[in-house]
Amino acid sequence: MIGVAPANGNGRRIGITGLGTHVPETVYTNKDLEQYVDTTDEWIVERTGIRERRFATKDEALTDIAAPAAVAALAEAGADPASIDLIIVATVTPDMMFPTSSAILADQLGMPDAAAYDLLAGCTGFMYGVAQAYAMLASGLAHRAVVVGGDVLSKILDWEDRSTLVLFGDGAGAVVMEEVEEGGFLGFELGADGGGGENLWLPGSGSRHFEDADKLVKMNGREVFKFATRVLVSSAEKILGECGRSVEDVDVYVPHQANKRIIDHAASKLGIPEEKIVVNVDRFGNTSSGSIPLALADAKADGRLRPGELVLMTGMGAGLTWGSALIEWNGAAAA
Ligand code: ACO
Repeated sequence: MIGVAPANGNGRRIGITGLGTHVPETVYTNKDLEQYVDTTDEWIVERTGIRERRFATKDEALTDIAAPAAVAALAEAGADPASIDLIIVATVTPDMMFPTSSAILADQLGMPDAAAYDLLAGCTGFMYGVAQAYAMLASGLAHRAVVVGGDVLSKILDWEDRSTLVLFGDGAGAVVMEEVEEGGFLGFELGADGGGGENLWLPGSGSRHFEDADKLVKMNGREVFKFATRVLVSSAEKILGECGRSVEDVDVYVPHQANKRIIDHAASKLGIPEEKIVVNVDRFGNTSSGSIPLALADAKADGRLRPGELVLMTGMGAGLTWGSALIEWNGAAAA
């Protein structure tokens, strides 16, 4: 699916007016993981660029880390939670299948008028969520939305499998989206290839193999690596072409934070210079749906998200799925 945002078509420019993040307090360094699996700090840094990650405690579930992120996003937007009429939570680790984490959050945060649902698109979940919220806001069906991307993958990792344990971390980010005066989203490109689904899967998690006692992540790292480097490039090229922009126009590149080697590979193929790339995989590992909002927040904290700047985000992950969004970073909400 690809589309140029109809910002000039129906008169609504939709942008991000608030951004908030939250990660669990507990830090696990690579050295800490050496006590669980046969690995080394050197191997992990060289092959992934990851140095440490946050893992939730036994009592922390998704909404515990998503709620502070959403509260911070609402505060930055100056938005009353009661004014939110849509909340989407992108995650593969909800508190439970139902009630949905979005409904739990809407209740906790005071959003009585919000439509609330969870969205499953692996590490691409945040990009799918933003695209859906965009469509509802641009059509006028919703007026102010919260999109949360977050995961507590530590709960579904096999702590005896070195090929997955060292890659992931827990974290969440949230954005408030609404009509803005200037800038805003320019377009989206989303896709999926279910044929590659078994390269990254959780077979015991649903109705197909529900009796399966093993409910932990399984991954074919090499295949996922090939897929990730391929779609990071193709999705970026498609969205830029569709929106009539070039790679040189991109001011800030926010790729999914899976692995520094994947990011470097894609950036060099695309020709995006290092100073434009946001990287925080070294501090958080791969936080799945939390990855892009966490990276956006780092860019913002560094003063890199200024109104008028062109920001390219691309996510990819389980499904297999991918998704890009192009946004001209916006200023204030429309009056
Ligand atoms: N520590 C030490 N050795 C390890 C570890 C580890 N943590 N994990 C694997 N190895 C070993 C393997 O067993 C293998 O040993 P062998 O040669 O004796 O069999 C050796 O290292 C090399 O393994 P490779 O799989 O070839 O290593 P590679 O350089 O491909 O790196 C990695 C593996 C990091 C998983 C890489 O394939 C990768 O990043 N894949 C993408 C995975 C990913 O990002 N998934 C995230 C979810 S999806 C997404 O977000 C896009």
